[in-house]
Amino acid sequence: MREKTKIAVLVSGGGTNLQALLDAEKRGEIPDGEIVLVVGSRDGIYALERAEKAGVEHCVVHKDEPKLIETLKEHGIQLVILAGYLTILSEKFIETYRDRIINIHPSLIPSFCGKGMYGLKPHEACLARGCKVTGATVHLVNEIPDGGRILLQKAVEIQPGDTPEILQKRVMEQAEWKLLPAAAEMMAKEIRES
Ligand code: GRF
Repeated sequence: MREKTKIAVLVSGGGTNLQALLDAEKRGEIPDGEIVLVVGSRDGIYALERAEKAGVEHCVVHKDEPKLIETLKEHGIQLVILAGYLTILSEKFIETYRDRIINIHPSLIPSFCGKGMYGLKPHEACLARGCKVTGATVHLVNEIPDGGRILLQKAVEIQPGDTPEILQKRVMEQAEWKLLPAAAEMMAKEIRES
C-alpha cells in the first residue's frame, strides 16, 4: 500500500475548518491522508495556534508565492486544502498543483460565489435575495474564482429572522465542518490509489 497522501492546509483566519480537519483526522476519518503542514498567510492568526496545539508543523508565508511552492515541495505535499485562505493563487501555482487543490465556499455554488464573495458577504447576499436554502460547497480550484469542478455540496435551511452572522454559524456547523473532512478523505484516497 502506498504512503498516506501528504496534505497541507492553507489558512488566513480563525481556522474552524482546519480544526474540523484535525479533529476528523484524529477520529480516524481521513485514513488515506495525513495533515503534515499548515501554512498561514499572516502572523498571529488563531489557525496557527490550532496547528500548534495539534502538534502539526506550521509556518507563515506572506505574499511570496515562489516561497510557498518551495515550502510545499520540501514537505512532499500532494494535496492542498484552502480552508479560509484569502490570498488569490496565481496560474502558475494552480498549474503546479492542477486538480490537487480544494477550497470550501459557504454557499451553494454557482450562487453567491466568485470574486469578492468571502466572509459574511455570501450570507448577506443570500438573505437579501430572500433564499430559503443555502449551504456549502467544496470544489477543485482552477483559474476561475470558485469556478472549479464541484466535489461535494450540502444544503442548509434558512430560518425566519436569520442574520448573516447566525446563518454563517449554521452553515459552518451543519455543512462546512462535515464537508471539508469528507472531501479531504475523498481526494486523499484518490491520490493514494492513483
Ligand atoms: C469559511 O466560511 C470558509 O467557507 C471560507 O472562509 C471561512 C473560514 O473560516 N472559505 P475558518 O477560518 O475556517 O473559521
